[in-house]
Formats: sequence, structure tokens, C-alpha cells
Amino acid sequence: MNIVVGVTGGIAAYKSVHLVRLLTKAGHDVTVVPTEDALRFVGTPTWEAISRHPVTTSVHDDVAKVRHVALGQAADLVIVAPATANTIASMAAGLASDLLGTTLLATLAPVVIAPAMHTEMWRHPATQANIATLRSRGVHLVGPAEGELAGGDTGPGRMSEPEEIVEQALAVLAPQDLAGLRVAISAGGTREPIDPVRFLGNRSSGRQGAALAAEAAARGADVVLVAAHVDAEVLAAAEHSSIRVRRVGTAAELSTAMKDAAATADAVIMAAAVADYRPAEVAEHKLTKEQGVLTRIDLVENEDVVAALAAARAGGRAPEGQIIVAFAAETLTDAGERRERARRKRERKGVDLLAVNLADAEHGFEQADNAVEIIGDGGGVVGEASGAKREVARAIWRAVIDMR
Ligand SMILES: Cc1cc2nc3c(=O)[nH]c(=O)nc-3n(C[C@H](O)[C@H](O)[C@H](O)COP(=O)(O)O)c2cc1C
Repeated sequence: MNIVVGVTGGIAAYKSVHLVRLLTKAGHDVTVVPTEDALRFVGTPTWEAISRHPVTTSVHDDVAKVRHVALGQAADLVIVAPATANTIASMAAGLASDLLGTTLLATLAPVVIAPAMHTEMWRHPATQANIATLRSRGVHLVGPAEGELAGGDTGPGRMSEPEEIVEQALAVLAPQDLAGLRVAISAGGTREPIDPVRFLGNRSSGRQGAALAAEAAARGADVVLVAAHVDAEVLAAAEHSSIRVRRVGTAAELSTAMKDAAATADAVIMAAAVADYRPAEVAEHKLTKEQGVLTRIDLVENEDVVAALAAARAGGRAPEGQIIVAFAAETLTDAGERRERARRKRERKGVDLLAVNLADAEHGFEQADNAVEIIGDGGGVVGEASGAKREVARAIWRAVIDMR
């Protein structure tokens, strides 16, 4: 998404550095438009470095590209954080004295502001009248929060935390079509210990599961994300007050956590890569070359978690109407063969939807992008998507909603 972040002249401008980081990390294209006063708090190089776009306050730069309207026209969302009393007044009056002002007038995108100022300034009738004007025009407010303000006072006026601003701003754009639904999602790859330092694992990063969780939460769902060895960096994309993360290690731990979450879930998505086998014995101490035992590992089969969840549902141990989605990563390059295998797998596992993805150098494991076909009732293709994993997540949720 194209997001413009307007930054105005308050101390909280430093917090917006983190806000921009959160947005870019989540894959959004962010252009920062500071006011002249904002640059007294945080300078141009910082904004350019974290957004990777040129930054200016003026309508007179890049005139050939009509930047003063182009930014607003191209934006999917505009966030002003912090929003000073002065900028709030300018917005209410419709002033276009700088690049932020013209961008705000030229945009048809939703506008979200995060006010920050001293309590007296916030409570002043002029500010409150301006806020009422902006609200009546459909501007969304996040905060201000109560708490310690610059200068040591406390009261309402503190800018909301960046995480909360991101969450609420993105929720403005997302349809709330999963509101009230409880969902359980598994992500990442399990590791089956051989000894205290070695394991059998796979290359799943958890990105697709994290994207599914983030998309569901943005659309109003309550999410349990069962994460097997997912990096903190990847989990950061799924930071949301409606997502509870349960970390697990082995297939057995994942199974327990998923069964627990699925018992009350309206939708279950198994995006994790779960080991089919585990070493029959786990050595108590590190195995050494000298022992000569590392050339052969005896394996025993793990439980088929997806099939177990489907069986629990069939046995009435799940909410009425629960939808179960499984994933299949295939290396077969022939799309027809891949689809056929996916159809058989869907039948065998007893799930409603099966998202089959090609795992190659550009797609699937450890990659930012994915490409899936979604197999549904009667083995038909009910959806497909390729591109960013968040895009793929949208297609999967669309298929789940259609099915419900
Ligand atoms: C140290 C300092 C902190 C300030 N913090 C705020 C603030 O949090 N909120 C606010 O509305 N104004 C604050 N101001 C005043 C604004 O910087 C001033 O009103 C300025 O004209 C805002 O311009 P802008 O809205 O174009 O960025 C602060 C000023 C200073 C010197």
C-alpha cells in the first residue's frame, strides 16, 4: 500500500520514526511529508533513510511531477502523527501552505491523525472545535492517550504508541468481515531434536502464517498464532492486540497448542510445516563423531495434525461450521499435476480448503512472495493469488468467507 505519513512539530515526532519502520517492515511503501517545524525535531536524513524516499516539506520541489497533488492522489492512506494543534487547525481550515497541506487536500484516501499536545492545548475549545470539524469530514482519530507529557505534566495529550496507530490506521482500510470470529493459525517449521544441539527441521520461515494472522486481525478476528521457530522479525509483522502468539518447538507441541486453539475456533489454518517424522530416540547428551552413531537416525511417524483437527471436528469437538484450511508445498512444476495431488490430499485430510503452493527459488519457503491455488468443494479451484504473502493471505480469507 502507498502510505503518506505526515509528521508535524511536536516532541513525539521521534516516535514516528518507529511508526514508519513498522509500516515499511509490514511491506508498505511509505512517503514521509514533514512540516518545516517537524524537521527541528527529527531531520530529513532520518526520514529518507527509513522510508527510502526523498523527503521535502515544500511544494516547490519536484514540480515537474506535480508532487503537491501527486502524493495525495497516489496515497491509499494518509497518517498524520504526531498531529500538532497547529496542523489540526490548518486541516480544519483547509490550508495548503506546505506539501503536507496540499497532500491532505488532494487525497481521497482515508486520513488518520494521532494528536499530540499539552492537555490545555488539547482541551482548548478551538482545538476541540477543529477536531469536531475533522471528525465530521470523516477523519479518523487515534488517541490522544493519557500519560506523561513532555515537560513532566500528565493528562490527555500524549501521542498513542506507534503500534496502536498502525493497528488502527490499517483497520480503517480493512473490511471488518471477520469481526467476532475466532481463528487459530499455525506458522513456521517444527524442529525434532536428535540430541541437545541437533534437530531435523525445514525451511519454513512462518511469514505466510504471520501474514494470515495479521490480515485476520486487521479484519476484526481474534487470533491465536501457534508459532514454531518464527523469527522475532517475522512475528513483528503480526503484532496486534487481537493476536495471541503461542510459541512451540516440536510437532507434538504444535499439535497440543493447535488442538487447544481449534477447540473454540471458527476457522483453523495450518500454515506451519510440520515434521512427518521424528527421531525415535533423543540422545540426552550431544552425540559425537567418535561414537559413530550419527550416520543413521531411526525415525517414528508424527501425528497428522491436520487430519486430527478434521477428525475432532467430525466428532463434534469443534464449533459448528468450523472451516479448516491446510497447506501443501509442492515442488512439482507442472500445475496440473500439482493440482491433482492437492485434490487427493484435501480428500485424504478431510479439510475444506487446501492452499497448494509451488516451493521454488522465488516462491514459498523463506521468500517474501508466494503463489497459491486454493482447492475447495469437489476439488475445484476456488481462488488463486500470487505476490506478497499478505496478498495471498487476503485470497485465502476471501475463500474462507465465501465458504462460510
Ligand atoms: C519543544 C517543543 C515541543 C512542542 N511540542 C508540541 C506538541 O507536542 N504539540 C503541539 O501541538 N505543538 C507543539 N509545539 C509547538 C509547535 O511546534 C508549533 O505550534 C509549530 O508551529 C507547529 O507547526 P506544524 O504544525 O506546522 O508542525 C512544540 C514546540 C516546541 C518548541
